[in-house]
Amino acid sequence: KFNITVVGGGSTWTPGLLKSLCTLKDRFPLKKLVMFDINEERQNIIGEYGKILFKEEYPELEFSYTTNPDEAYLDTDFVFMQMRSGGYEMREKDEKIPLSMGIIGQETCGPGGFAYGIRSITDMIKTINDIRKYSPDAWILNYTNPAAIVAEALRREFPNDNKILNICDQPVNLLRSYGRLLNVDPNQFEPVYFGLNHFGWFTNLYDKEGNDLLPKLRKMILEEGFIPVDAEQRDQSWLDTYSMVRDMVTDFPDYLPNTYLQYYYYPEYKAKKLDPEYTRANEVMDGREKRVFEECRKVVEAGTSKGSHVTHNDAHSEFIIEVAESIAYNLGRIYIVIVENNGIISNIQDDAMVEVAAVLTSNGPRPMSVGKIGTFYKGMIESQLAYEKLTVDAYFEQSYEKALMALTLNRTVGCGKKARQVLDKLIEANKDYWPEF
Ligand code: G6P
Ligand code: MN
Repeated sequence: KFNITVVGGGSTWTPGLLKSLCTLKDRFPLKKLVMFDINEERQNIIGEYGKILFKEEYPELEFSYTTNPDEAYLDTDFVFMQMRSGGYEMREKDEKIPLSMGIIGQETCGPGGFAYGIRSITDMIKTINDIRKYSPDAWILNYTNPAAIVAEALRREFPNDNKILNICDQPVNLLRSYGRLLNVDPNQFEPVYFGLNHFGWFTNLYDKEGNDLLPKLRKMILEEGFIPVDAEQRDQSWLDTYSMVRDMVTDFPDYLPNTYLQYYYYPEYKAKKLDPEYTRANEVMDGREKRVFEECRKVVEAGTSKGSHVTHNDAHSEFIIEVAESIAYNLGRIYIVIVENNGIISNIQDDAMVEVAAVLTSNGPRPMSVGKIGTFYKGMIESQLAYEKLTVDAYFEQSYEKALMALTLNRTVGCGKKARQVLDKLIEANKDYWPEF
């Protein structure tokens, strides 16, 4: 039985995770669960919800929540992390500042992702130091965004820590959606995937017999379009995002793209489609944030979680538990995760943090070789990688010049004049969070 700590206990993704831990308790049984958040108010609501849920569905579990890092990480085996530095208030700025200049406004892509990345690095480093003080051997499974920037920063700050694993649920979301289209259980898939986080491609999708289902899937997407597996629960902006997969496959049909590539394939076109007055942050604050907290309050008032619906994406919570399970029991299942390249993609530099399929064992991920990639993909990846590396350089060196270089290279900006303008606005907006440039 395992002890786990959830960092970001006050996140609206957390109730879904708590529910999944109940559903999967026979496969991945817990002794103790501690939730940690720096925001006491959010943490309390979800913590009280958790108490009622576990009393009903997991009475043997020792459950607590805290805002004290000295209590959160004692004797823990797995830390599930999902923090949002600056909260939704800052996400809104990340999205609106670039959009006000006609540049993509997105939490992980473009200048918004840059701003969020610089904020996340400080908080991530602090949290990992807190964890390592009490649990030097715990596995840290990290969802914190922007995962590409975070992964690169952690690689540099903790070069000898091989129990930090950065993950993203978007490849799993896509696999589940492929499963729905093809009418195949997505657990049967053996995918080949390469790229950077929120910047990658599926090259093959093998079934258990070794047949590649990707050509058939490509044809179906071109003919029927593409929707997320959980389309019924998705907001309009996510449906729009998924619908763009058909455009991407039409234009670049070799492989199947991660949805996030649309911001880099079509930066101007996409920026025009986004509303600078009402962004995804607004949609989330008006939707999920209200809904989940209200639902949790209702459960607490009623004293029972029966009949409540707090989950909004099964893949997100199940994926992190399955990753932990595969590590804990040395199952060797294949998942798409973020690791240091070291020759996996043979014509990309070794010290890139890449997203690829890996066999997950108790010794961590054993990534599967991708080999040489074509010129177009190499070019796309290398410019994005340079942007990511320069962003992390800018953070550690507190260098305005590096920050300007990073944003100039980012395909969503593409112009040094615009890069300087947006950087200056972001510096102003982030002055309570960023190191001084
Ligand atoms: C996907 C991505 C995550 C991201 C999330 C945002 O799951 O992989 O990295 O955090 O979408 O979702 P939201 O509903 O907050 O826009
Ligand atoms: Mn992600």
